[in-house]
Amino acid sequence: MIKVHNLNKIYKSVHALKDVNLHVKSGELFAYLGPNGAGKSTTIRILTGLTQPNSGSVSLNGFDLKNSSIKSRQQCGLVPQSINLDQELSVYENLTIHGLLFRMGKAERNEKIEELLNYVDLSHRQQSLVKELSGGMKRRLMIARALMHSPSVLFLDEPTVGLDAGMRRKIWALIKKIQQQGTTIFLTTHYIEEAEFLADRVAFLDTGTLLVVDTPSNLMTTLGTWALDRLIDDKMEPIYFNSRDDANHYIATHKESFTLRRVNLEDAFLSMTGKKVK
Ligand SMILES: Nc1ncnc2c1ncn2[C@@H]1O[C@H](COP(=O)(O)OP(=O)(O)OP(=O)(O)O)[C@@H](O)[C@H]1O
Ligand SMILES: [Mg+2]
Repeated sequence: MIKVHNLNKIYKSVHALKDVNLHVKSGELFAYLGPNGAGKSTTIRILTGLTQPNSGSVSLNGFDLKNSSIKSRQQCGLVPQSINLDQELSVYENLTIHGLLFRMGKAERNEKIEELLNYVDLSHRQQSLVKELSGGMKRRLMIARALMHSPSVLFLDEPTVGLDAGMRRKIWALIKKIQQQGTTIFLTTHYIEEAEFLADRVAFLDTGTLLVVDTPSNLMTTLGTWALDRLIDDKMEPIYFNSRDDANHYIATHKESFTLRRVNLEDAFLSMTGKKVK
């Protein structure tokens, strides 16, 4: 579905992407994880045709981004990192404008708007101005807008940033539902638990370099199943164990204070880069 070969992006003084290679399968939910400035948004901007790479190639659903840019752009829906809805227009009008941009006829447009508002649970707010919506409603409207032209791949750039835990879970459920309808999903996030919960596969990106691509469970189990956090010189230093018994034995035989927890994706990232994602 998405094929990326040797992608490089250089902004004046920053080499933002360094020989990135990716292959996202059709119907997959692929999470792209990395700290601030890793190059996540840059990758999405290139894949959706908003900016050009310095070198490398991209194809979406078999359409090369360079040679068939219109076809490949029609394949994608984009929910950008910052909210770019028209605040002074209504929910309905925001969706109408997007439909017009994609040359949808009136009947098709109105039918799709009704279906999507229902889908993202915003039917009751269709006449509200965007500026009157909550943050979670705005995110849901951006997702509806990105789905208006029925894209085969949906790019979500930090779709739950700044939302409370309840709304985040509601958006997770919506993302799962979109995947179940057959849409391929490419998601960037800072939230480890979001990637763990949603992703079929996860990529770790650090300062423009792709470190690894694998399933969340493979990435985590290479370290062990249980982690003991201990504070050393104001820094949390985890130790990993394959069994809970081994961890408990370690606690019993050491006179330090520990917190016992399950290994998570943050541990996998930390062990590869020495840094946290957040
Ligand atoms: N338009 C631009 N001009 C110059 N440098 C840029 C531009 N856009 C991004 N960069 C730089 O490229 C690098 C990658 O930025 P990018 O926005 O892709 O990171 P990110 O992983 O999305 O980060 P965040 O988690 O903060 O959203 C950063 O060093 C950033 O400063
Ligand atoms: Mg970003």
